[in-house]
Amino acid sequence: MKLYLRLLSFIKPHKSILFLSIFFLVFAALFDSASLSVLVPLSDNVLGQHQIVINRELPAFLTHLINRINQVPALTMLYFVSITMLILFLFKSIFIFCRTYFVTKLSQLVVRDIRNALYRKVQAFSLDYFTETAIGSLVSRITYDVQIIKGTISVGLTDMVYQLLMFIFLNIIVFYINWKGALLVICILTIVVYPVIRVGKMIKKISTQVQNKMAGLNNRLFETISGIKIVKAFSQENAEIKKVAEQNFSFYKSIMKMQKRVIALGPFVEMIGACGGILVLFFGGQEVISGRMSLGVFIFFMSALMSLIRPCRRLSEVHSINQQGLAAAKRIFEILDAPIKVMEKKDAIELPLLKKNICFENINFAYKDKLVIKDLNLEIKKGEAIALVGASGSGKTTLVNLVARFYDPTKGAIKIDGFNLKDIQIKSLRQQIGIVSQDLFLFNDSVRNNIAYSRQDADISEVINAAKIALADEFIRNLPQGYDTYIGDMGMKLSGGQKQRLSIARAVLNNPPILILDEATSQLDAESTMIVQKALDTLMINRTAIVIAHRLSTVKKANKIIVLDKGRIVETGTHNQLLKAAGIYKKLFDLEFMV
Ligand SMILES: Nc1ncnc2c1ncn2[C@@H]1O[C@H](COP(=O)(O)OP(=O)(O)OP(=O)(O)O)[C@@H](O)[C@H]1O
Ligand SMILES: [Mg+2]
Repeated sequence: MKLYLRLLSFIKPHKSILFLSIFFLVFAALFDSASLSVLVPLSDNVLGQHQIVINRELPAFLTHLINRINQVPALTMLYFVSITMLILFLFKSIFIFCRTYFVTKLSQLVVRDIRNALYRKVQAFSLDYFTETAIGSLVSRITYDVQIIKGTISVGLTDMVYQLLMFIFLNIIVFYINWKGALLVICILTIVVYPVIRVGKMIKKISTQVQNKMAGLNNRLFETISGIKIVKAFSQENAEIKKVAEQNFSFYKSIMKMQKRVIALGPFVEMIGACGGILVLFFGGQEVISGRMSLGVFIFFMSALMSLIRPCRRLSEVHSINQQGLAAAKRIFEILDAPIKVMEKKDAIELPLLKKNICFENINFAYKDKLVIKDLNLEIKKGEAIALVGASGSGKTTLVNLVARFYDPTKGAIKIDGFNLKDIQIKSLRQQIGIVSQDLFLFNDSVRNNIAYSRQDADISEVINAAKIALADEFIRNLPQGYDTYIGDMGMKLSGGQKQRLSIARAVLNNPPILILDEATSQLDAESTMIVQKALDTLMINRTAIVIAHRLSTVKKANKIIVLDKGRIVETGTHNQLLKAAGIYKKLFDLEFMV
């Protein structure tokens, strides 16, 4: 119920559409049920050519109306009934069109809002969330699960109201005409309530499984398509096809298991309802034979009763649709409610331009319970270039991630000019930092837009300038469409060195005072290494730089080399000092730089 109310809160901003939907819903239901009443004069006065007889007291205006109708000649009545029917059906159609239009509009608006809210939340998460959550399943929730919610609102919520109204209006009619018969049918129909609720619960459970399976399938698709090169390199195409086919089959099985129950509910309710109807036919027929009720009234009564079965049937189906929606809503709210680890304070201040230093004070950092940075103290002065070296897994990338506040330290504080990173606006921090990360990521867009990613409005001269600093201008000009060339998914159409220089150009577009370079050089040949190196050298002039270095020249030029081992600083000094000390740096140096 709580879930349902929360789902309804998404409708709140669209109150006027909801109001219009309900308005047309009520009128469509009214005309839908009222259109049955023309059956009375049609069968009695026109076809049967006798008077309307009803075996109960009616309000004066109705008695008066019936008396008037009874006096009209058959042919005139036929004419009159036809016109009335035409008008009634016309109005009914108009109202049903308006109802469906506004209901569809409402559900699409809600779906749009939920998607936006989800994506806003996804963008707000800090990086830890994405290491714990598979991307494919996240995308699946934003697309597939939200689509299910749409069904719940368009069919579930509104059909529930519409059919409930129909149920009430039709009930009024049948009770008015013959309450005994009506009661009988209603009693029989209540038999179905229990199984409908039971099946509904089952459907909710299976629906969760179905949504999970869709998420799993999406994950596999996402991974194997974006990693297609590896799939092919290891000749796993057939194995992947088989795995996807298996997951697809499992999804199909679950959804059929659910649909079987959804589909069975309707006919089941209808069957029970029909039994009631037949009983009424039996007793009501006797009333007609004895003359206490005219044929027309009886037909009206029977058709109202039979029409009553449809709302009951729909209500049972709607119940199962709602259960699926609730299962999806639960998964969606899980995302909306997930805590954001790196949060900006409400009163966060804007970070002024770097003047003095970046300080690490007693930093500890753990991924979950795995301590990766231990009691780390470090000062980086403005204008200094620091080289971070250390074995793979020693915590270099983690350390620079803390500077950009992708994560918060578990203990201690990082301060820029004395401002704790936790107290400043994240945007103002990241604007001062240019990052070239280890896992180069480029968008499937033009060269120009990739470089100008941080400022889409940057003019072309700025983009070219950044490219020149990164020594990328020349190769970009040689591309088929120059700066407007599309580079493919993750820059597939570029070489490793070109991708790296593009990432460097992107990082320097805004001329950031702080540079973080997580070098990934293993993929580069000697010549591109040299070019990238040259680019980096010009880049670091007049900037504060933290470089995770794999290149001898970078390390040599650094003002200070920090050697990390298992999350601790074990050595600090210049290249020559550290070589002389003959410690870990010397070992790493001999190994990595192969001197
Ligand atoms: N998102 C994460 N969740 C959990 N553990 C992580 C995560 N990222 C890194 N680690 C672990 O933290 C440790 C430090 O990783 P980090 O990426 O900082 O190493 P690195 O020094 O940059 O190594 P490399 O030179 O190979 O890039 C490693 O043991 C790694 O397994
Ligand atoms: Mg790393």
